[in-house]
Amino acid sequence: KESELDVYSVSKGPYRHFMQKEIFEQPRAVADTFERRIEEDNVSFEAFLGTDEDSFKDIDNIQIVACGTSYHAGLVGRFFLENLAKVHTEVEIASEFRYRNSVTLQNSLLVTLSQSGETADTLAALRKAKNSGYKGSLAICNVPGSSLVRESDYVFLTRAGAEIGVASTKAFTTQLIALILLAIRIGRVKGTLTKEQAAEIIKEIKKIPDEISSALKTAATVEKLAEEFAGKHHCLFLGRGEMYPIALEGALKLKEISYIHAEGYAAGELKHGPIALIDASMPVVVVAPDNELIGKLKSNIEEVKARGGILYIFTSDKTAIKEDATTRVIKLKVSGQYLQSVIYTIPLQLLAYHVALINGTDVDQPRNLAKSVTVE
Ligand code: AGP
Repeated sequence: KESELDVYSVSKGPYRHFMQKEIFEQPRAVADTFERRIEEDNVSFEAFLGTDEDSFKDIDNIQIVACGTSYHAGLVGRFFLENLAKVHTEVEIASEFRYRNSVTLQNSLLVTLSQSGETADTLAALRKAKNSGYKGSLAICNVPGSSLVRESDYVFLTRAGAEIGVASTKAFTTQLIALILLAIRIGRVKGTLTKEQAAEIIKEIKKIPDEISSALKTAATVEKLAEEFAGKHHCLFLGRGEMYPIALEGALKLKEISYIHAEGYAAGELKHGPIALIDASMPVVVVAPDNELIGKLKSNIEEVKARGGILYIFTSDKTAIKEDATTRVIKLKVSGQYLQSVIYTIPLQLLAYHVALINGTDVDQPRNLAKSVTVE
């Protein structure tokens, strides 16, 4: 298996916390993860250790299994794999999958996502899958020598470098890059993605490091905004489509390091319950990219506003969403369409970081949490 020197020094450098450093390392971590692995209109099979030119050609179904932030990456990956490679994809939390009498569809690939490669539930899920009729297992992992890497048939190593902060940041965005590369690879080898489409996506991938750098420039704005969250006890994150997992991820970041009860929700589900929670005491964060769902999302925003909710909307110029007395708008510059999930994650990571700073919690080692959950 590819062994790699850890190219990042494990020190905070000029940053106050490892988490802050790792948030700002993302342009380089993402670039390192795709560089030397992409061609003009394809992804080289060597990026997936243990595979050859024809691997994945016979795969018709994918089961993604992971925990926490890695599970959220899997939820985004499902959009890539179904939209681009046209492969049926399921995503499940490892601690549920490992105990369920799951039915394996034919020609299935098991994909695990894990920063550490030592998460007990994810390892157990892989071991269960080995005797459940899967055609193979792929680990997308950030630690070359980990158990998950050693026990999987195929390996895609993210090159995020050591991630010390318990709250996962650069591992998440590099997992998203890994998943879109997997979708391109499978789509090209199965013929469900044309050369031209692949080339267009790859062109966008190459711009992502700069787009992340531009998203990081919202840090000062988000730091100011964080003051409006610090004293709160509840917070709701809303998103639709690919941004629903990003809402889940934003909520997980906030809850695990600032200890504010935060919940990510599918915006379309508001009227099925959560709208009863809305009042001025609970900030509502909305991930509102310029995509085909923005019309629906705007009506969800109106629902919240009509009930006195205070909104924090992360969006772009093109959606023309306006600030008002109860609505803050934070604009991102996004040029592509395939990887908006990566860009919209950045300000949510920064929000959690700055709220935690104000709350005075231990950003890098939040209470009760471990960097790798090696026990059930
Ligand atoms: C993420 O911020 C959390 N610290 C946690 O949910 C983590 O993603 C989860 O424990 C999975 O860890 P892994 O990626 O190393 O398997």
